[in-house]
Amino acid sequence: MARQRRSSSVVSLCGLALGAMLTARLAQPQAAAPVAQSPSPDRVAHGAYLVTTGGCHDCHTPWTMGDNGPEPDMSRRLSGHPAGLVVRDPPGLQPPWLGTASATLTSWSGPWGRSFTANLTSDVATGIGGWTEAEFIATMRTGRHRGTGRPLLPPMPWDTFRRLADEDLAAMFAYLKTVPAIRNAVPAPVPPPGPAMPPPPPPAAITTMTVAPSPADPVARGRYLVEGKGCGDCHTPMVMGSNGPEYDRSRWLAGFDARGPVPAMPPIDGVGEVYPIEPAYAGAWGMSFAANLTPDPETGLGAWTEQQFIDTLRQGRHQGRGRQLLPPMPWQAFGQMTDADLKAIFAYLRTIPAVRNKVPDPLPPSAPGGSGR
Ligand code: HEC
Ligand code: HEC
Repeated sequence: MARQRRSSSVVSLCGLALGAMLTARLAQPQAAAPVAQSPSPDRVAHGAYLVTTGGCHDCHTPWTMGDNGPEPDMSRRLSGHPAGLVVRDPPGLQPPWLGTASATLTSWSGPWGRSFTANLTSDVATGIGGWTEAEFIATMRTGRHRGTGRPLLPPMPWDTFRRLADEDLAAMFAYLKTVPAIRNAVPAPVPPPGPAMPPPPPPAAITTMTVAPSPADPVARGRYLVEGKGCGDCHTPMVMGSNGPEYDRSRWLAGFDARGPVPAMPPIDGVGEVYPIEPAYAGAWGMSFAANLTPDPETGLGAWTEQQFIDTLRQGRHQGRGRQLLPPMPWQAFGQMTDADLKAIFAYLRTIPAVRNKVPDPLPPSAPGGSGR
C-alpha cells in the first residue's frame, strides 16, 4: 500500500482531512470486490467492529451530555445531524483558529461554510438504505456523494478512509445496512459568505488493497490501521506547501510542533470545539495538543511498553494510569480495537523516525485568553 500520506489537498481540522472540501477533480473510483447478496454474520460483525473503531460515531452519532460526560446518543445511532437542531454561528475566529464543531459534533463550520454529518442508517429516504455497496465504496474512495455526486465537505475524512481495503469497506457497508432506520433528513450544507474558495489540487493517486494486511505481519497491519484510522490527521503538523496545506513529512506523528507559539485561547462560548491548522484543539476542556507518537524516548512513546500503550487507548489515561486524555483524542473508539490490532499499531509506531518534540501540557479553560468556562 502507498505508504506516504496524501499531502497537498489535506488540512488537519480536528484531525480530519479537509482536503475533500476543496476537491475539484477526483480520483476515479476503484473497482470493488463483488459482494454476496446477503452478507454473512461474520462480515456484519466485522463491519460493526470497523465502524465502531473507525470513529464513525464520533461524527455521525449526535453527542449529548451523559452522566459521565459527553457521549454519543445511541438512541440516534449514526443518524447524522438532527434535523431541526439549530446551531449558532461561531464567533468571529482569529487566525490560526479556523473552524468549529457543535457540541453534538454533527455541525461543522469552516472556510467551506457549514456542513452537517450525514444519516448513515438504513432509512431509504434519508439514510443510505437505497445505496448499493459499489456506491458506498465509491463515496469513500472519491469523496463524492454516491461516487458521482457533489464533493463531500470537511470534516468527512474520506481521504483517510479511501486507503481502506475493499473487504473492509464492504464489511462496513454490510453492517450499516443492518443499522435500524432512523428517518432524519439532514440539512443541506450552507456555503460560506463571500467568494467561493479556489478549487484544490486533485488528491494524490493511491494504491488500494483488496484485502487488509493480517496481524501476522504486525508492522504492515499497524501502518494500515494508522493510515486508515487517521492518526496522522491529528498527530502530524501541517505546513503550507505550493498546493496548499500539507503534512510536514519530517514530523510524521510527532504531534503539536513545540517550536512554534501556543495559540491564544479562542472564544468557545456556545460552541463545541474550535480548531486551528496546527494540531491544537480548544473547547470546554481548555486547550489540548496532539501527542508525540514517535519512538523518541523522552518526548514520544520510546520508553513506553506495549501494555502501557494498550492501556492508554483502552482507558483514556496517559499510560493507562495517569491523567485523563482530553478531547478530541477518540480513545473511546480506538480503545475498542482488539489486542492484536493495538499491538500492530504499537509495532508500527516503533518503526517510524523518532522526532524530539516536547508537546506542551494541556491548558485549563481558565488559561489567559480563555472564556473561563
Ligand atoms: C470528523 C467527522 C467525521 C467522521 C469521523 C466520519 N464522517 Fe462521514 N461525514 C462527515 C460529514 C460532515 C459528512 C457530510 C459532508 C457533506 O455534506 O458534504 C459526512 C458524510 C459521509 C458520507 C456521505 C453521505 C452522503 O449522503 O453522500 C458517508 C458515506 C460517510 N460520511 C461515511 C462515514 C463512515 C463510514 C465513517 C467512519 C468510518 C465516517 N463517515 C466518519 C463527517 C465525518
Ligand atoms: C481527532 C484527533 C485525534 C486522532 C484522530 C487521534 N488522536 Fe491521539 N491524541 C489527540 C490529542 C489531542 C491528544 C492529546 C490529549 C491530551 O493531552 O489529553 C492525543 C493523545 C494520544 C495519546 C496519549 C499520549 C500520552 O502521552 O498520554 C496516544 C497514545 C494517542 N493519542 C494515540 C493515537 C493513535 C494510535 C491514533 C490513531 C489510531 C490517534 N491517537 C488518533 C488527538 C487525536
